[in-house]
Amino acid sequence: MDQKLDLYGIFGHPLNHTLSPVFQEAGFEKVGLLAHYLVFDFSEPVFKRTMRSLSKLRLKGFNLTVPYKQTVIPYLDWITDEARAIGAVNTVYRFGKKWYGTNTDAEGFWLSLQKEWKWKSKGKNVLILGAGGAARAVLYVLASKGVVSISVWNRTESRAQELIASFSKLFPKTNFFSTALEKKSDLSSFDLIVNTTSVGLHAKDKMLLTEKNIPSAAAGKKYFVDLIYNPAETDFLKLARKKGHKTLNGLPMLLYQGARAFEIWTGKKAPVQIMRQALIQAVSHKI
Ligand code: ATR
Repeated sequence: MDQKLDLYGIFGHPLNHTLSPVFQEAGFEKVGLLAHYLVFDFSEPVFKRTMRSLSKLRLKGFNLTVPYKQTVIPYLDWITDEARAIGAVNTVYRFGKKWYGTNTDAEGFWLSLQKEWKWKSKGKNVLILGAGGAARAVLYVLASKGVVSISVWNRTESRAQELIASFSKLFPKTNFFSTALEKKSDLSSFDLIVNTTSVGLHAKDKMLLTEKNIPSAAAGKKYFVDLIYNPAETDFLKLARKKGHKTLNGLPMLLYQGARAFEIWTGKKAPVQIMRQALIQAVSHKI
């Protein structure tokens, strides 16, 4: 009998630079699935029209990226507690006639710290730069893994305050602090520093932290993560590396959030090495 073709995809706008099809397709091929991953670069009216006829959509599952991670929620039958807490869905899957939403960004971030560094959360103090959607996923997973404290520095202080107010209720054992980015002090007390803002995407961007904010690794090695992966090394990571600290860009998080989606959709273990190779190859052509 002919094998059935399974279709997956990603909705977002604009989507001309998405790397997801390359590594998802490599994964399908490796595990012998007749499946494809399509790109739906839809304007908001077209996206909403598609979601209104979700029951007729011939996809087994799909991803969402900017700007539809929140927009999709009212169209789904159910979302996980994690997606609800983060306020965003990046992975949707079908179960019978119902559509379920979850968020694999948080787990993707956590897995990137584990696979790259075997990073331990116990007793750690974390600084998060930014208070948008990406910050929420990072905050959620670090708090759920039991770090001691999370400080959020954001350009708009009220947004950081709102963020920690909602997470303090969910994670009463974690200490949360918020500060306006302009009041930034030095980073001595932090073990892990994560940039979740878009600063660094463009060459002309002004650095969020300066040389004097970052102590030398001689006083204690720290871990710096930038969720940006293009450019592969932002000025933020370059400065941290030059001071002797450990650094990581957003590529492993992209890989692991996709690998988790792959597993949810297919029920098969994701061939992460193959997916990683495809991703690295695609990035080296694009950057
Ligand atoms: P995402 O979902 O990718 O996190 P977002 O919700 O738009 O995107 O959040 C972007 C984050 O980058 C915010 O924390 C934003 O700060 P504000 O809340 O003050 O807007 C931050 N950001 C963007 N451009 C910035 C800049 N030039 N300087 C400092 N922070 C910036």
